[in-house]
Amino acid sequence: MASKETTALVTGASSGIGESVARRLLEKGYRVIGTSRDKQRLSALQQSAGGRFHALELDVTNLQSIESLLQRLPEPWRKIDVLVNNAGSDIGGRKPFHLGQAANWRNTIETNVQGVIHLTHVLLPGMVKQDFGDIVNIGSTSGLEPVPTTAAYSASKHALDGFSESLRMELERTGIRVMQVLPGMVRTGFAAARYADTKQGEQFYDDFGKWLCADDIARTVIFALQQPRHMVVSRLVVVPKPV
Ligand SMILES: NC(=O)c1ccc[n+]([C@@H]2O[C@H](COP(=O)([O-])OP(=O)(O)OC[C@H]3O[C@@H](n4cnc5c(N)ncnc54)[C@H](OP(=O)(O)O)[C@@H]3O)[C@@H](O)[C@H]2O)c1
Repeated sequence: MASKETTALVTGASSGIGESVARRLLEKGYRVIGTSRDKQRLSALQQSAGGRFHALELDVTNLQSIESLLQRLPEPWRKIDVLVNNAGSDIGGRKPFHLGQAANWRNTIETNVQGVIHLTHVLLPGMVKQDFGDIVNIGSTSGLEPVPTTAAYSASKHALDGFSESLRMELERTGIRVMQVLPGMVRTGFAAARYADTKQGEQFYDDFGKWLCADDIARTVIFALQQPRHMVVSRLVVVPKPV
């Protein structure tokens, strides 16, 4: 179990993997700050976790929203020991690149890459000061092996892989670990958000034919965090298999 004072911040805790990670962290005794662009979407978590959960509005594409994050937290929540960079987007993806919209590609990069880099830059100094911390980035198998019609998304997750690995090496001789969990297909609201259409999102998973669930990734994140401090889960790839 985590010590009573261990605080984790999970971005995109309003649905899918982020929500499951937040629930598993709470179960393991962490205090959890969950973020969403819409705090209302965190109300179920808030109700079930009570005082051990703090809901925070955060748009990771908004630099001011990120830079003001620590000031916007109540003082007892400002010492953050674990950062789970989970918020991600593929809006407008899974279509031929030339038919997609530039604004969507930009949003994918801003959310999945710049958001992670900027938020890490804001929270890392606190971890360096206490010489302790864990950063878990939610990558994707698309960050290792691209597939067609995911050019911007694959680019974003390749960039995340480079960021994670470089930072992990840079911080090797400190008390801070940088880890990456890279899921294959996970059945969440991700596809519905991509198409802005719930039915099409569900059809996408049905057609794909195999998938993980959000809690599979949450348990994987907990596994990574719970390893002894001399061990860093640099890249943990998890893929579904049909049963
Ligand atoms: N599903 C998969 O097959 C799969 C596979 C590999 C990797 N992943 C990765 O897993 C992560 C989580 O995805 P998921 O499958 O759980 O999808 P999801 O259910 O759609 O959740 C995405 C989360 O990201 C948040 N988010 C999106 N844009 C944001 C922004 N600009 N600022 C702040 N938060 C934002 C959303 O929060 P709000 O909308 O409430 O702000 C939501 O909580 C992503 O990084 C994704 O790339 C997913």
